[in-house]
Amino acid sequence: MEKISVKVCLGTTCFVMGGSNLQELNDIIPRKYGDKVEVSGSNCLGLCSINWEYSKAPYVKIDEDVVTEATVEKVLDAIDKKLGIK
Ligand code: FES
Repeated sequence: MEKISVKVCLGTTCFVMGGSNLQELNDIIPRKYGDKVEVSGSNCLGLCSINWEYSKAPYVKIDEDVVTEATVEKVLDAIDKKLGIK
């Protein structure tokens, strides 16, 4: 099975909109999923500038899917769904 790639946006907009809390994912993901999921930080994913006023930052990308207004719970949930756990 292919690894799932999780990219946490570390750009300024996402960071100030709550992305700083998502740093926990760097610890949680390897512990929970081992080598099935790869987590990394990313520069601005280019999503925040599309519609600043309605920005749904912070953004996290899971493969090609975008999680908006990402929280640790939302991201873990999306990974579980992808893996077919939920
Ligand atoms: S700062 Fe996250 S998408 Fe731009």
